[in-house]
Amino acid sequence: MSVLIMDRVARDHGSGAGLVHALRDFSLRLDPGEFVAVMGPSGSGKSTLLTLAGGLDTPTSGQVLVEGVDLGALPRAGVARMRRQRIGYVFQDLNLIPSLTAAENVMLPRELDGVRARQARREAVHALAEVGVPELADRFPEDMSGGQQQRVAIARALAGDRRLVLADEPTGALDSHTGEEVMRILRGRCDAGAACLMVTHESRHAAWADRVVFLRDGRMVDGTGPRPGPETLLEAR
Ligand SMILES: Nc1ncnc2c1ncn2[C@@H]1O[C@H](COP(=O)(O)OP(=O)(O)OP(=O)(O)O)[C@@H](O)[C@H]1O
Ligand SMILES: [Mg+2]
Repeated sequence: MSVLIMDRVARDHGSGAGLVHALRDFSLRLDPGEFVAVMGPSGSGKSTLLTLAGGLDTPTSGQVLVEGVDLGALPRAGVARMRRQRIGYVFQDLNLIPSLTAAENVMLPRELDGVRARQARREAVHALAEVGVPELADRFPEDMSGGQQQRVAIARALAGDRRLVLADEPTGALDSHTGEEVMRILRGRCDAGAACLMVTHESRHAAWADRVVFLRDGRMVDGTGPRPGPETLLEAR
């Protein structure tokens, strides 16, 4: 079963002269094991695409299915449950909760889902170790560097073995070495059966993906077949 199906999805904002087609007629299928990168200029609809895939926003038209479940047919609580159980999300602006430690941030979605604190803590420590920052478990976001916060945000998306990982520029604040490490982690998750949709500006990182979807003005301009695209993409892998 596909992990994600987006069928002719569109998202408009505003109306009249202020109407913006943030995403138009967008279709995509992500199967288990697939890693797809999304590239495109600022304002082309990349974050819009991810919020729709993750059930954080509702399409103006079209359907979004996660593991066979039509998000549009679920009540709010059902969508929230899908997000907690099935979907890991790395936000472009991280969204760590300042009053919680790194481990508590990572634990939170799991605890909301009824996982016991001790188990959630174990998963959190494991996820923090997976992204290379086990020592940050009890530190608060304001006492971390941007790159450290970013790794914690990634750990939060990975804890609990979620099948759909959505990452909006997960390497934005990371040096190139750490960025590659994050790519290796996401690639490993996909090789273990998850599906990952990642926004990136770096072709070096897109080269880790099986396919690259290019957006321009809310439209997919090129997204068929296995395509590293420019030669640089092939060399970087
Ligand atoms: N809540 C909103 N209300 C009105 N317009 C919006 C809203 N969210 C996004 N847009 C518009 O939709 C378009 C796509 O925005 P989006 O954030 O998806 O772009 P992006 O590709 O992620 O850009 P960036 O690379 O800068 O993060 C832009 O024109 C943006 O101004
Ligand atoms: Mg964006």
